[in-house]
Amino acid sequence: MRTAIVTGSSSGIGEALSLDLARWGWRVFGFDLTAGDSPMTSSDLAGFGGSVEPMVVDVTSHAAVTAAVASVLAATGGTLDAVVANAGIREAGAFEETPAVDLKRLFDVNLGGAMHLTRAALPALRSTPDSRIVIVSSAGGLSALPGLAAYCGSKWALEGWAESLAHELFPQGVGVSVVEPASVQTGLWDAGTIHGDPDGPYASVIQALEDGDDRAWARALDPHSVSATMVAVVEGRRGLRHPVGLSARARFLARGVVPAGLQRRIIGRLTHQDPPVRSPRNPDGVIMVTGCSSGFGLHTAVELARRGRRVAATMRDLSRRGPLDAALAEAGVADRVEVLRLDVTDQASIDEAMAVADSWVRLAGDVGRLVGLVNNAGVLAVGPFEELPSDAVDRVLDTNLHGTFAVTRAVLPRLRGHGGRIVCVSSSSGLGGLPTWSAYAASKWGVEGWAESLAFEVGPHGIDVVLVEPGAFPTGIWRDEARHGSSDGPYGPMVDAMVVADRRAAESGGDPVVVARVVARAFDARMPLTRRPVGRGAWLRWAARGIVPFGLQRRAVARIVG
Ligand SMILES: NC(=O)c1ccc[n+]([C@@H]2O[C@H](COP(=O)([O-])OP(=O)(O)OC[C@H]3O[C@@H](n4cnc5c(N)ncnc54)[C@H](OP(=O)(O)O)[C@@H]3O)[C@@H](O)[C@H]2O)c1
Repeated sequence: MRTAIVTGSSSGIGEALSLDLARWGWRVFGFDLTAGDSPMTSSDLAGFGGSVEPMVVDVTSHAAVTAAVASVLAATGGTLDAVVANAGIREAGAFEETPAVDLKRLFDVNLGGAMHLTRAALPALRSTPDSRIVIVSSAGGLSALPGLAAYCGSKWALEGWAESLAHELFPQGVGVSVVEPASVQTGLWDAGTIHGDPDGPYASVIQALEDGDDRAWARALDPHSVSATMVAVVEGRRGLRHPVGLSARARFLARGVVPAGLQRRIIGRLTHQDPPVRSPRNPDGVIMVTGCSSGFGLHTAVELARRGRRVAATMRDLSRRGPLDAALAEAGVADRVEVLRLDVTDQASIDEAMAVADSWVRLAGDVGRLVGLVNNAGVLAVGPFEELPSDAVDRVLDTNLHGTFAVTRAVLPRLRGHGGRIVCVSSSSGLGGLPTWSAYAASKWGVEGWAESLAFEVGPHGIDVVLVEPGAFPTGIWRDEARHGSSDGPYGPMVDAMVVADRRAAESGGDPVVVARVVARAFDARMPLTRRPVGRGAWLRWAARGIVPFGLQRRAVARIVG
């Protein structure tokens, strides 16, 4: 009998899928916070040959998931044919008004849950022929929706992570698929409140969300119609992405074909958002940049100052300010730049930097106010997902994703009222997955989905959100410590090939100043573009996204990395 683990199995899509798989003869282990009082009893399944065995497991706990997978394997004699990462929650509302703890929990369930399950199950999946990992994303993972910045971020992160895994696990005989349902009639809709003050600055976002939820519920799919597609995917239907429902299919087709700006206008109209107001160009004020001790951040601070901007150049460790000070002195712009301590993973240090920024307004009036933010700080960890230490994965997500959220949440109230621009230094890894890049891709795809959704909310306040997507450039991020994985392990040939391919890409990347100029131009432009790839590799991946089928991309990448 084939065996599967389904998370979030006590209700909604997970329950429908568990039941349907059992009817197809599968032995299903359902992981959920509660065993549920669902009709998944053996009497319902009598005569079908399959079964559903509920287990109480919190998917956000690495230890709990690992122990539960071990007990499943003990029961199945070590074989596992499929895992379905379906557990998910939804947080809706204004991003700025959503408590940080809720944002964190959303990612812990939607992304962390899938990661814990996959990590624990991979050795067994690799040793079971034709096994599968199925990730349940959402139509919001294909194009971002207003009022759902964090939810879309979590689903985009899943998409990027899964795409990288698909590259990585194909040679291991493990298939990876992502299912993207449109709205489905499940408890997901009433599980959370809509965050934000209905009379506050984001009142129209909240109102549009309430009205939109009612409309979406009325035409939402039945969970069993989604599970029909999912059974086919678990049974081995080919292809990486499987949109379900009309709106998901439309988003899938529009992906990479309809420009982000146009998509935003269409979705904004359809969901009754307030129209965006043009963000001010060249206003007096200060642009804050994170991660200025080296690389793009350092060059961006210098480039902005060269163009006459006042800059708050921040870094987590002020003892590393030497190279920035030298570059500013050489450019003769040191008087335009204030260097502050800011660790994007430490809320207290963010609050301290904001207090300093507020003191400039008290001292200098409008000239001292924040008018821009560059979310640049980032770290890298590469290696086959199974061999990536979980603390390295956490560091990447905490810095690149949650760090970006935390600094943006702090800056937004200071930009609202007069407008401004937020530039996020994403990556070409936010445009497509690559083997060994799953954690980093998750972080950058997460930023992309979140930023696209945030743009709906902040656009009416005269705030533009811009994504700069560099390819590989030789900066401090390419540290040896960032590399994980063994040449002697199951992924050995891929690990070795990727070391060579990454080194070649970074060495031929050119001068990182190019990226700083693109970032600076986003503040000078009359109307900044939503996305801006930088470098040949990034443009190629941008052009391939949504147009070149994943199977072709996978074969092309496999040829390059041997
Ligand atoms: N280089 C590339 O090929 C490439 C390509 C695409 C995208 N990117 C992105 O570009 C951005 C900048 O990277 P880079 O290439 O310029 O690398 P880099 O030279 O290593 O710069 C990264 C910066 O981020 C800082 N940082 C790390 N963790 C931080 C934290 N918790 N709080 C505050 N600052 C922190 C680092 O500070 P410390 O000095 O203290 O570590 C450093 O200043 C990153 O978001 C990266 O993902 C890079």
